[in-house]
Amino acid sequence: DSADIDTDKRLAAEAAVQEVASGMLVGLGTGSTAAHAIRAIGRLGLDIDAVATSNASADLARSVGIRVRDFADVARVDLTIDGADEIDADFRAIKGAGGAMLREKVVACASRRMIVIADASKRVATIGAAKLPVEVLPFAAAYVADRITGLVRSATWRGEYLTDNGNRVLDCVAGAYHDWEALADAIACIPGVVGHGLFLKQVDAAYIADRGVVTRTER
Ligand code: A5P
Repeated sequence: DSADIDTDKRLAAEAAVQEVASGMLVGLGTGSTAAHAIRAIGRLGLDIDAVATSNASADLARSVGIRVRDFADVARVDLTIDGADEIDADFRAIKGAGGAMLREKVVACASRRMIVIADASKRVATIGAAKLPVEVLPFAAAYVADRITGLVRSATWRGEYLTDNGNRVLDCVAGAYHDWEALADAIACIPGVVGHGLFLKQVDAAYIADRGVVTRTER
């Protein structure tokens, strides 16, 4: 049940934060699993700096005593730990149910190492069933929605929700896609799209907890 799933999220997070060492600049993810990691990093009491992928994670990190820097001043991150909505055996992931995928993508790309932490419900044979969020400049809303309709099975606005960047989100369903790189490029190329939740190359390792047992896999 949901208590067991939350325990698995916490166990995956607690295993992954063992990689954090004093002196590191650490990227903090967003969502319920990443929140477990942030609290666990706080408990470690190490001398680290952090950057956050959302305002919520920055607030949580500060509340547990982690020094949070403005990512605008940061070019390289040592280690980022973040959740995912789906991850497959080739370390392709879909992220962004929490709406933070753009900052998550930037921080993941800036990171020497990017770890996904998750309970086993996120592990899938092939990605594509989860909602694939696309962040859209509000100015371009109708144009982007029209263009994206030709690329995915469905695309639905996440109501009036705005990201930390002040943009809207189109929740798309891609389904079983044959060429994820082509889809990622096609979405990213639409003017007015500022980001999307397909993480095809960024994930280096995964800590997945399944009924209390954490397994680490490396790309
Ligand atoms: C946030 O925008 C997402 O990318 C999260 O990392 C993802 O939705 C996982 O969240 P949970 O850990 O809450 O499932």
